[in-house]
Amino acid sequence: MRAFDAADAEPYRIPFGEQFTPHMVTAEWTERDGWSEPRLSPFGNLSMSPAMVGLHYGQVVFEGLKAYRRGSDAVACFRPVDHAARLRRSAERLAVPALPEESLLAAVDLLLEADGGCLPDRPGLSLYLRPVLYASEANLALRPARRYAFLLIAFVTGGFFSDRPDPVKVWVSRDYTRAAPGGTGGVKFAGNYAPSYAAQEQARRAGCDQVVWLDPVERRWVDELGGMNLFFVRGSGPSAHLVTPPVTGTLLPGVTRDSLLHLAAGGGLAVHEEPVSVEQFRTECLDGTITETFASGTAAVVTPVGTVRDGAESWQVGDGQAGPVTLALRDALVDIHTGRASAPAGWLRTVGIRGSDPGRPQSRESLVGSGQ
Ligand code: COI
Repeated sequence: MRAFDAADAEPYRIPFGEQFTPHMVTAEWTERDGWSEPRLSPFGNLSMSPAMVGLHYGQVVFEGLKAYRRGSDAVACFRPVDHAARLRRSAERLAVPALPEESLLAAVDLLLEADGGCLPDRPGLSLYLRPVLYASEANLALRPARRYAFLLIAFVTGGFFSDRPDPVKVWVSRDYTRAAPGGTGGVKFAGNYAPSYAAQEQARRAGCDQVVWLDPVERRWVDELGGMNLFFVRGSGPSAHLVTPPVTGTLLPGVTRDSLLHLAAGGGLAVHEEPVSVEQFRTECLDGTITETFASGTAAVVTPVGTVRDGAESWQVGDGQAGPVTLALRDALVDIHTGRASAPAGWLRTVGIRGSDPGRPQSRESLVGSGQ
């Protein structure tokens, strides 16, 4: 296996979700004691009862947040407080006892201090942190569990689709919907993801990278991409403005979505949170009103959408390439991630790396995920 060397002239692409770091953080909740203090331990398999509630009834919520290198001895975690707040909202929806914000921050600090040094100081790479809360009680009664566990793991990643802002092709799902009013689409519930795989497979067979989800009632309004929010640019030059579907409960209120709304407003770009129908999406791309479309998310950052397929029909967005507004917003966000631009107050949490030798990134073999 090839050693992972940050100085590579042509670095290989690091797949999303494979290169786990050597440690994890865990905590437990009991009715008597509430949440325990988070503890650092080596990354390793979990032991669980075959009757664990999370496994059978899916009482599981998670988050996804990223940390970026800050020179030789620190990393900066992007908006952990906002991720902690969303984890609390997700937990409340799934009747999971919320993890206190300070416990999540303490867990992030523990893991980044221990494993921040695994992140090579190379543009485009980040440490993706995955906190999970799950029902750990062994009991198949159909009621909220009486024991829970928290887990935080991390992996080194490049881009979700590619390491450059290459345009993706998206597929409008007509057979399936992602979330219904009153359901769980507005929180990061583990069960939101596997039901998208059948549609994702249809998209893949149609030569597309991602699924566009429509609202479940009228099957008319564009909701999100499933793991990513969608933005449209109407107009160009000084008349350009951003449009994104409003957060009405069925789409996930992305932290990246919120960051882009903030950056756009700060840069004088008008933003309208309003519904866009799939018919508008098609006709406005064809008549040139919609000039750009992009996906946003922690994993996807800002990814341009180049082509849309809806059954037998397909259309191009703009010239099919990343447009200027997409690239400007992406740059503005990445500049904050990487420290080239200053972040709004409270967005970044900088953590010193314990005992790092920053000049020598860990070999690929030393990252836990390579063979497991
Ligand atoms: C994220 O963008 O962090 C997500 O959670 C999407 C997906 C990778 C699960």
